[in-house]
Amino acid sequence: MSTENAQPAMQPALQQAILHAACQLEAGLLVGFPTETVYGLGADAENPAAVASIYAAKGRPSNHPVIVHLAPEADLSYWARDIPQEAHKLIAAFWPGPLTLILKRAHHIPDTVSGGQDSVGLRCPSHPVAQALLREFKGGKGGVAAPSANKFGHVSPTTAQHVIDEFPQETAAGGAIAAVLDGGQSEVGIESTIVDLTRLATHGPVLLRPGDISAVQLEQVLGVPPAAPDAAAPRASGTLDAHYAPNTPVVLIASATLAQTMQQLKAAGRSFALMSHSISDGSAARAHLVLPAEPHGYAHDLYADLRALDAAQADIILVEALPEDRDWQGVNDRLRRAAFDSAGVLGKLLT
Ligand code: TXA
Ligand code: MG
Repeated sequence: MSTENAQPAMQPALQQAILHAACQLEAGLLVGFPTETVYGLGADAENPAAVASIYAAKGRPSNHPVIVHLAPEADLSYWARDIPQEAHKLIAAFWPGPLTLILKRAHHIPDTVSGGQDSVGLRCPSHPVAQALLREFKGGKGGVAAPSANKFGHVSPTTAQHVIDEFPQETAAGGAIAAVLDGGQSEVGIESTIVDLTRLATHGPVLLRPGDISAVQLEQVLGVPPAAPDAAAPRASGTLDAHYAPNTPVVLIASATLAQTMQQLKAAGRSFALMSHSISDGSAARAHLVLPAEPHGYAHDLYADLRALDAAQADIILVEALPEDRDWQGVNDRLRRAAFDSAGVLGKLLT
């Protein structure tokens, strides 16, 4: 494998790396690449064997759909059929950018990318390295299927080094991942907002996964608020309850009780790491990071900081809970999933 340590500005070495990566994708191999949300693990969306090897590398069930990434000039009607007006409106407003649309899949697109469902998830990323790769791959006419470049259920990567840390064997020489392109730290930091437009007549637009583009922004373009997913909504693995989790258990604690919880843990001889946005005294913590008290800045830092706190190998990671308003929906969604399996952990540590 080759790891290209280039800067986001397109130096010749990075351009070379992108050309090389596009050839590797065309040959059916896997490539890690940056997007503005998180790093993706890409394969040729029209090559079912290549897509299957993403599932194998991630340890992900093969009935989970992956997002197909397109170049800005791509022909949407090649990938989707019965494209509604709502899709064109959202694309005009938010592409390229952190928005994925679920549309009815064109019949000739293999259903391996949608886990056998009749739909396809499409996104045009704004990251310059992702765009250059997509323009180079199959002359800009291909699609790159890519989930986040992490092991199934684990924290998504926001740097090239995170991808290598997630897949040490696969990114080693002769491993399943042929290259990892380095485009610096992902700007947005959490995965794209996903909107399902396949059941408009009966359900309207459905927000399958909140992200940097908020429900409020979607409503401004669509004229109606997006609905919450129901039981029959298309499956989305980022919407499983347990997801985005580090190895250390994560627990969300209200600001008002954080100081007391830290004292109790200390008295019980337990170690903890702390992620806060308003509390600045974390002197008792084994590791402490203060994130911006604003959703975009918080999202930008979230995954890298969870990884850093995980590395402290404390008994538990305490996260100061955030406001429950719509601006924080994307971040709160990821934090709740990171904390999902941890109910009861705090109680056990204190007894
Ligand atoms: O920001 C992102 O979306 C990143 C970057 C790499 O683009 N990708 C990402 O992929 O988060 P992944 O696989 O970790 O999450 C993709 C989500 C999953 O929840 C998947 O189930 C959903 O998109 N998805 C993709 N295609 C779908 C479809 N046809 N129907 C329903 N959900 C779909
Ligand atoms: Mg993911």
